[in-house]
Amino acid sequence: MAQLEILVYPDERLRQISQPVIEVDDEIRSFISDLEETLSSLPGCVGIAAPQVGRLERIIIIDVSSRQHHKNHGHRVLINPLITFKEGDVVGREGCLSVPDYTGKVSRSKNIAVTAQNELGTHVKYEMVGYEARALQHEIDHLDGKLFIDSLVGKRNDLKKRTDF
Ligand code: NI
Repeated sequence: MAQLEILVYPDERLRQISQPVIEVDDEIRSFISDLEETLSSLPGCVGIAAPQVGRLERIIIIDVSSRQHHKNHGHRVLINPLITFKEGDVVGREGCLSVPDYTGKVSRSKNIAVTAQNELGTHVKYEMVGYEARALQHEIDHLDGKLFIDSLVGKRNDLKKRTDF
């Protein structure tokens, strides 16, 4: 296992579209172990996407269980995630490992359904709400080369320096 380096804005690799994983094999699982170690080394972080460490494949990990009072599925690896249903809009403040000094308000769907494969290659489906749904949408955006700073809510730029609050 190894901790991987997090790419930081404006690194161009964060703007690439990641490719689907064709086969979930031992090499992919080894990479996922490294990604998990990287995420767990970063206190307070609730998700990470493979392109954030420079691997342009559609793999994410989310785990919002450290945030109390948010319904969630615990630690989940999602390979080739696809949102199949969404409803409602809710605005919330987000941050990102790859935009380390800022947070900003983004509108996300409140309820979603997602299909994916897990680290064994098994097809899975989850319904997610609220904070977990937000975290997932944020990570899927990374797979499409998007960052939260692209979709800030409001007429004026709502970025806040982390030290401001
Ligand atoms: Ni992020």
